[in-house]
Amino acid sequence: MKLYKILLKVSLYLSIKFFNLRLPLPYVLYNFLYKKFILRIQNKNEDILNFEKYGFSKLNIDFLDLIEKYDLKKRKVVQKKINNHRTYFFLDKKYEKLFQNDLLKILNPLIKDLEDYFNIPVYLISYRAFRIEHFNYMDNKDLEIYANKFHNDGYVMNYFKIFVNLEDISHDDGPLHLISKMNTKRFITASNYKNRDNYNEKFDKELIFKNTGKKGSSLIFSPSLCFHKAGVPNDHRDTIQLVLAALPKDKKKFCNNDINIFDDNHELISLTKPYGFINSIKLFIKNFAIKYI
Ligand SMILES: [Fe+2]
Repeated sequence: MKLYKILLKVSLYLSIKFFNLRLPLPYVLYNFLYKKFILRIQNKNEDILNFEKYGFSKLNIDFLDLIEKYDLKKRKVVQKKINNHRTYFFLDKKYEKLFQNDLLKILNPLIKDLEDYFNIPVYLISYRAFRIEHFNYMDNKDLEIYANKFHNDGYVMNYFKIFVNLEDISHDDGPLHLISKMNTKRFITASNYKNRDNYNEKFDKELIFKNTGKKGSSLIFSPSLCFHKAGVPNDHRDTIQLVLAALPKDKKKFCNNDINIFDDNHELISLTKPYGFINSIKLFIKNFAIKYI
């Protein structure tokens, strides 16, 4: 095994054991510093307060009109099968710019609130609409097809997501499963969590929040701070996934409209995935230098 893989394993082990997160230790330190010196928690609205307290929040934003206007699952999209369990819905190229503008109009008030909270500029980085499909989970409990095991995404806290339900999603439709930040310690103890492929699934299900809801309803969550997994649907589940990030950039020189959210924008996303202690501290300093107040 390569040295960096061994170090990462040790780092994740210590992180789970001492900090109740499955994150590399430099990110644990980074998040601690960010929270202490940059984040602004006072006087926030309910959505932001919940996001801070639990790591997720149902949003008071309804995307139903947008979904219907662009008929995101039917007329104006091409379905492309990637594998047997996930299908992506692609918006017709000629509608992409219009759609992005409409989406940003809806999101802008929230983006402003998030900028106030993160204390640096926030960007919408990517859009994806997809379907996950049923697979025989009961006979293949160890099989991980689409992140259906509890884990944290390996990013610093500046990286987060919004999920929009592309259809009514019930408990049978494999909703996103989340563990509140408040319940993380209980979850790790109750499931004897060692890693995403090594924990006991028989723990108190009261600890799980399931992102059920009406078509068009939405949820913001921090995949690096909240343990989460995809539920396995009885048939399928259709979702829009938006990736956002708080980045140390100048919004006057680089604004949301400069990003094409249909590209993979790897270089922007990778800014929230610094490699090692030194780069994590460098990122913290960059954010500190650009913070609004
Ligand atoms: Fe994830």
